[in-house]
Amino acid sequence: MSDQSVRTLVAVDGQVDGDLIERVIRDPRVAVAAVGDPSTGWPAREDAEALLVVCRDGSDEGLELVRRAHSDYPGRPVVVACEGSPNGFLRKAFRAGAEDVVQVTTAEHTATDTYLALAKAVARRDSEAVAVAGGRVITVLGPKGGTGKTLVSTNLAVALSADHARAVIVDLDLQFGDVGLAMGLRPERTMYDLALSGGAPDASKLEGYLAEHSSGAGALLAPTRPDHAAVVTPDGIREILRVLRATTAFVIVDTPPALSPEVIAALDESTDVCMVTMLDAPSLKNTKIALETLQLMGVTAPIRLVLNRSDTNVGITHADVVHILGRAPDILLPSSRDVVRSVNSGEPIVGSAKRNESAKALRALAGLYLNESS
Ligand SMILES: Nc1ncnc2c1ncn2[C@@H]1O[C@H](COP(=O)(O)OP(=O)(O)OP(=O)(O)O)[C@@H](O)[C@H]1O
Ligand SMILES: [Mg+2]
Repeated sequence: MSDQSVRTLVAVDGQVDGDLIERVIRDPRVAVAAVGDPSTGWPAREDAEALLVVCRDGSDEGLELVRRAHSDYPGRPVVVACEGSPNGFLRKAFRAGAEDVVQVTTAEHTATDTYLALAKAVARRDSEAVAVAGGRVITVLGPKGGTGKTLVSTNLAVALSADHARAVIVDLDLQFGDVGLAMGLRPERTMYDLALSGGAPDASKLEGYLAEHSSGAGALLAPTRPDHAAVVTPDGIREILRVLRATTAFVIVDTPPALSPEVIAALDESTDVCMVTMLDAPSLKNTKIALETLQLMGVTAPIRLVLNRSDTNVGITHADVVHILGRAPDILLPSSRDVVRSVNSGEPIVGSAKRNESAKALRALAGLYLNESS
């Protein structure tokens, strides 16, 4: 989702009329999963990210809905939209478990206030979950140049962030990194500046070195010159990934086509590996060797396999891929001219509203990680 919408289950009590509900949910970013009266049973919507209770001022029914929302949908934040003055009601609503209370005023203000309260509540819940469990570090590998590592890692970071899971991409292609180019970001401060700044990085210091993409994704960019790469050490990378992981739901690591000491350091800190391969003999041979090497290195992180340019007709079939690699790809990513255009314009294709099969496959990859994290 590129529109930052919040999938919302709306609960109303019998006293609330349709006009009031319409005023509360009319912001298009409030993606209504269902509207229902829980006294007759919640609609089963496991995909809801948040619950919205619409009620009249101070109604006991409203408070009861908040309590039921918590027991029926644990882990989802509850926001209350209340007509009339919520004074007096506020404390009771918070005690019943509401994250926020929105006062219904004019249609325009109410709709925006409700959306912002829902989005904030979901973001707060996500960052609390990260603080407790730590985020995931996904290292994107592809043991041959040009297989699509940067394409996959930049789009993954943007797709996850657009779906409310803050992601930071770290460009470990230290000599010729092009994450900044692929995301349209200027390398004002890079890993080189961070390494030269000295001292151990903490979360707020690191924030100052991230370039921000409009999707909400952050990017720690590679040095701008190959001769600057040597100042970034494997120990420094370990430290950066540990700090980022403590505050970020997803840390995505883009890599050069080699198991360099920096990449091995990243693998030590990784919870996941995403291997990108293509339908040509050298790619498949190297992918097979890389998979075997990861096993020998004792990497236990689950490995997702992306077959890039999966629709290429070059005499190697998908059955051959399964035969050579001993497993089927998780994602088939077809070739597309729009991909090339998106790379050239510095805007990851998952951010485009245009229907495109490659973008769909990249969003599906993000969906695999999101589903495992929820
Ligand atoms: N599915 C695709 N459809 C169309 N073009 C693609 C696709 N995948 C990759 N490309 C093109 O191939 C180029 C190389 O992809 P990318 O930079 O992601 O590879 P890489 O594995 O990061 O390469 P390197 O090892 O050099 O860092 C991209 O600039 C893009 O133009
Ligand atoms: Mg690359």
